Amino acid sequence: MTLPVAIAGLGAYLPANVVTNDDLAEVLDTSDEWIRTRTGIRQRHIAAADEATSDLAAAAGKAALADAGLGIEDVSAIIVATTTPDHPVPGTAPLTAAALGSEAAAFDVNAACTGFIYGLRVGGAMAATGDQAVLVIGAETLTRITDPDERSTRVLFGDGAGAAVLVPDDTASLGPFDLGADGSDPSMLWTAAGGTRTPVTPDVLDAGGNYLSMRGGDVYRNAVARMAGAARHVLEEAGLGVDDVDLFVGHQANIRILDAVGTRLSMPKERTHVTVDQHANTSAASIPLALEDARNAGRLTPGATVLLAGFGAGLTWGACLLTWQPTGGGDGASV
Ligand code: COA
Repeated sequence: MTLPVAIAGLGAYLPANVVTNDDLAEVLDTSDEWIRTRTGIRQRHIAAADEATSDLAAAAGKAALADAGLGIEDVSAIIVATTTPDHPVPGTAPLTAAALGSEAAAFDVNAACTGFIYGLRVGGAMAATGDQAVLVIGAETLTRITDPDERSTRVLFGDGAGAAVLVPDDTASLGPFDLGADGSDPSMLWTAAGGTRTPVTPDVLDAGGNYLSMRGGDVYRNAVARMAGAARHVLEEAGLGVDDVDLFVGHQANIRILDAVGTRLSMPKERTHVTVDQHANTSAASIPLALEDARNAGRLTPGATVLLAGFGAGLTWGACLLTWQPTGGGDGASV
């Protein structure tokens, strides 16, 4: 199933502060060599003290609207995919909408690192059945929930936001999609406390229960299997083979995960777009940031078939296809 929806514009926001592996090695028992060889990460952007997720989201959303040549008044819904909201209540999307000057429908999607693909599915369906643009933003400030003293997690994550403007377009198609989730073992990758199961108490804070923790090896194995599986499903549904894919934009968690997914799919390395070296893992922001980076690098040529695949906490996973083609308006492109 595909949706008659085009991406009219893309936007990105990365905080100005860049922290290299060597910078981290000054404050943690780690090294540039360990981080690069285990993950492919060289640097990450870190939000300023006065920046929260909605600030990043609004900046990326504004850039995407400018790219599309549209105004905020053209937007009927704003979806923010995030797992690091400004506050537990309310959602981050209404705050983002307010910052953009909109009273349109605004709500969050929390599917962790798969959030942007889930957001495209929901936002795409809304755009296909409405007559206005839907803004889908992936935005995260992961460094706020990462234990600064824990080297095994702190080196992996960065902050940022990426956005896409979806518009109804009978000549375009978005999809097919394959989405899935398995919540039977959430502690594989989670923040244990701060929700209704384990509210924050002084003891919880002392134990670091408010920070992200994971079983890295289990996450790694599941990420490879689930992303490759979802990618295969959408290709099968579309009746396409790997040779038909011009560019693979996967969730940017770790270069070894991307390489392993590529090997499972028999995808040539030169057709995989990589930004994890520059951005580290920005969760729901990673795919739109990578898509915008690929477009800026001239890798999204008209008619190109693009495969997106993601994986994250939950567990959640998903994949979808896009066919890239120039739009009539703005500087963006359509799918
Ligand atoms: N610097 C130096 N050493 C580190 C380190 C760091 N930043 N982080 C962990 N180590 C140490 C560990 O303590 C361990 O030491 P030990 O053998 O003395 O116990 C050693 O490095 C090896 O750790 P290991 O877990 O075997 O490394 P790995 O090759 O599996 O790589 C990850 C670890 C986290 C990079 C890898 O498991 C991974 O990428 N998992 C997926 C994580 C992810 O992407 N999560 C988000 C998904 S959306």
